Amino acid sequence: MPQEHRLILKNVDRPGYTASLESYGDYAVLKKALATGPKTLADGKTMKGPEQIREEVKLSGLRGRGGAGFSCGLKWSFVDRKSGKPIYLICNADESEPGTFKDKQIIYKDPHQLIEGMAIACYANDVHLAYIYIRGEFVEGARILNRALAEARRKNFLGKNILGSGYDLEIHVHRGAGAYICGEETGLIESLEGKRGYPRIKPPYFPAVLGLYMCPTIVNNVETLCAVKHIVDMGGAEFAKLGTPNNTGTRIVCISGHVRKPGYYEIQVGKVTIRELIFDPSFGNGLNEGRSLKAVIPGGSSAKVFKAGEKVKVKDRELDMLDLPYDFDSIMAAGSMSGSGAIIVMDDSTDIVEALANVAEFYAHESCGQCTPCREGSLWMSKALQRMTHGDGRKGDADYLLHIADNIPGGRTICAFGEACSWPVQSFVGKFKDEFVARAAGGAGPTKEMKIAASPES
Ligand SMILES: Cc1cc2nc3c(=O)[nH]c(=O)nc-3n(C[C@H](O)[C@H](O)[C@H](O)COP(=O)(O)O)c2cc1C
Ligand code: SF4
Repeated sequence: MPQEHRLILKNVDRPGYTASLESYGDYAVLKKALATGPKTLADGKTMKGPEQIREEVKLSGLRGRGGAGFSCGLKWSFVDRKSGKPIYLICNADESEPGTFKDKQIIYKDPHQLIEGMAIACYANDVHLAYIYIRGEFVEGARILNRALAEARRKNFLGKNILGSGYDLEIHVHRGAGAYICGEETGLIESLEGKRGYPRIKPPYFPAVLGLYMCPTIVNNVETLCAVKHIVDMGGAEFAKLGTPNNTGTRIVCISGHVRKPGYYEIQVGKVTIRELIFDPSFGNGLNEGRSLKAVIPGGSSAKVFKAGEKVKVKDRELDMLDLPYDFDSIMAAGSMSGSGAIIVMDDSTDIVEALANVAEFYAHESCGQCTPCREGSLWMSKALQRMTHGDGRKGDADYLLHIADNIPGGRTICAFGEACSWPVQSFVGKFKDEFVARAAGGAGPTKEMKIAASPES
């Protein structure tokens, strides 16, 4: 039977466990990291402690938990260590992808785990000043983090000469103002510099080279940085035994929508299928009585939707999308992505046109407006969907939507938001075309049953 494997969430929701340092303990893994002495290699060269930690992270196979699933060890290896400029680390706590609510649990319920993970990552990368960029709406989360940082400073887990090691580190919390685009790493950096959160073009502005204040910068997600703590604690090879090859460790999955037990669940990556996550009593516990599955978004609102019964191909094997192991590679091979780890479940009461209209309205609102295809395209798609849901659809609207969505991504925009706003439209309209065509022709709005199921009183 599939089970949760709680590593990062080990203490979260444990009775009596609080966000205090007293509950958390004495930063034993940071102490271990700081005490890692130089090692002599077979070729006679010496590898210092920080470099050994970076090697362990590489060995662990850890992939970023913020969305793209990029190798953490590789990202750190791109950092320009010869520029003579300071290196910064930013924890991305913007958690802005709809359907995602995992980083929040860590911040609110176990903030010291994040701070310890950041301190270790900073030590490994010769960083002396780091930031936690937290979404503006997490007012209480920012307070909790500031309280935890003050506790850590009092114990000299932060500050000057940490625990007599000679290493200095300061971490500051910076609150965003509630913009989805500030979750994108270069938009986030601009915002942290006090400017409007306009993403920067890559190249040349790869954060590892030209990041915060044009200095080398590491941007990692909250969960990724917590995983670093566990990698140093257990060793990279042990961490890599969790999960599956190339999809190592654990990850937190957020399940929302039409399941009986929505929530956050930590699993070994690739050891649990989408079907189990939705239907097993250890996870989503199935749909409501009498309902059947209509669609699943596997990785946050920007991921391409799967239709119930859809057959996908992974490594020459055809399978039902529900039988996909929940990992980065399988879901990517099946044409979508596990993104931020947010599974959104829709049952047969869902008006799919209405659902897409909701998603598209969000993206039209959140486009930063720098690139014409994204600024105009996201708005046109939203307007077309709004008129379709208000009984004013036009013949050809379904194809019109696809035409716009197909012309935004593909290198025409500064950042990946162009893809993020197009993928839902391409997949919803592509896979449920009949419903969009019918609605565009002015017919087949939500059935009476759908309206009843969707009303707040039901
Ligand atoms: C539009 C957009 C929004 C994003 N929002 C977030 C977010 O809220 N949190 C996050 O960690 N990463 C987000 N990302 C990904 C970040 O740009 C970046 O890749 C990530 O923080 C790197 O951390 P990781 O390597 O640990 O995953 C977003 C990306 C895009 C394109
Ligand atoms: S793709 Fe969209 S969100 Fe990204 S920079 Fe261009 S206009 Fe802004």
